[in-house]
Amino acid sequence: MSKDTLTIIDNRTGKQYEVPIEYETIKAMDLRKIKVSDDDFGIMSYDPAFMNTASCKSRVTFIDGDKGILRYRGYPIEQLAEQSTYLEVAYLILHGELPTPSQLQDWTWHITHHTFIHEQIKKFMEGFHYNAHPMGMLIATVGALSTFYPEAKNIFDEESRRKQIYRLIAKIPTVAAFAYRHSVGQPYNYPDNDLTYTGNFLNMMFKMTEVKYQPNPTLERALDVLFILHADHEQNCSTNAMRSIGSSHVDPYSAVAGAAAALYGPLHGGANEAVLRMLAEIESKDNVPAYIKRVKSGEVRLMGFGHRVYKNYDPRAKIIKQVAHEVFEVTGKNPVIDIALELERIALEDDYFVSRKLYPNVDFYSGIIYQAMGFPVDMFPVLFAIPRTSGWLAQWEEMLLDSEQKIARPRQIYLGYDERDYESMEQRQEKEAKTATASD
Ligand code: ACO
Repeated sequence: MSKDTLTIIDNRTGKQYEVPIEYETIKAMDLRKIKVSDDDFGIMSYDPAFMNTASCKSRVTFIDGDKGILRYRGYPIEQLAEQSTYLEVAYLILHGELPTPSQLQDWTWHITHHTFIHEQIKKFMEGFHYNAHPMGMLIATVGALSTFYPEAKNIFDEESRRKQIYRLIAKIPTVAAFAYRHSVGQPYNYPDNDLTYTGNFLNMMFKMTEVKYQPNPTLERALDVLFILHADHEQNCSTNAMRSIGSSHVDPYSAVAGAAAALYGPLHGGANEAVLRMLAEIESKDNVPAYIKRVKSGEVRLMGFGHRVYKNYDPRAKIIKQVAHEVFEVTGKNPVIDIALELERIALEDDYFVSRKLYPNVDFYSGIIYQAMGFPVDMFPVLFAIPRTSGWLAQWEEMLLDSEQKIARPRQIYLGYDERDYESMEQRQEKEAKTATASD
């Protein structure tokens, strides 16, 4: 008869242990009982970079990396991208269900009416150097928001949590657009509550002298689809940072600032920026084979390719490729798309990429669209952070309300010195003098 347990024999002692298997997983803490002696600490599992460790139980996002499946709360990403809106998806991710018409109306009203930022925050942003990276400005400013809302520390008060969630989702596009306007030396545009979430963001980014900004509906919708695709992605690097920082019970502004910092890195949300820089370096389709050679020799990475979880085509990249063509009909073709398509064509035929299951990820095409829409490369990670805020907050709230969670605190395997006595400065000086004479 089959049993949902794992039998482990410790060959050091000959003892046998039975460990329960639940959800195809064993609890690392069950290994602790495996000891050589009573005063032994017990066995730990070693898993740098969390390659095979589940850090939580979650009901938010499902990914099957081998099959290229992504679902939010059970709904396939393809259906959401086609039929939903970013704000509806944000509601779904946070609440677990799609909203009813009145719930959506209420949700949209709250988000729309929290878009303004305090004038002192505007002044805070004015302090940045003229060429400050907008992602650095976003990280710092979101962190600074915590000083404006001290009640946000009441993380176990549901009403307060709701309010901070409205504020964060509403204000992050404002902070993002102000960061951009600051970097190009243009006056800030205040939010326009008549517009949609993405329409208003485009207004704050690009409005010049016109009395009322009218977003192009194709671009507004394309941005909304991109925001849907970026809303959540289960336990990625920045979400893990959000949960880990949040597990100390800090306020959500500080935790989102930390998560955004994790997203900034080129191996994560900074990859779309890196893709564009790579495409600019390649310059033309003819140089693609030579670049692929450099990738295969290990000299450079093919940015926007590969994923820790997807070992198949990233479903988001498929949708984005389609959106690119719709955007180009309005903006004209971004010439770097030809280099990207050629890179993808060659890479997908090459054994180096095939054998390692390296496929384009979400970042491979998103930057090309953003660039065509007029966003500078520096803004790409910021454009990722805006929609991911809803995912971070959903995961943060799930973590807070999970009775199995505690402050995140991994173990280590200590390989440093054993105990040794402190050496006085004289002793160290003497030692240094001896080494210097020995090497003369
Ligand atoms: N170009 C060339 N080779 C690659 C690439 C790449 N983009 N990605 C992985 N490889 C190779 C590695 O060199 C390694 O080869 P080896 O087995 O011969 O040593 C093998 O594929 C496995 O790679 P790992 O680095 O072990 O894979 P890991 O899961 O740790 O990394 C990551 C995933 C970070 C995304 C990686 O694929 C990468 O650096 N990609 C480029 C950056 C990028 O596009 N990041 C965006 C990710 S999506 C997101 O954050 C939204």
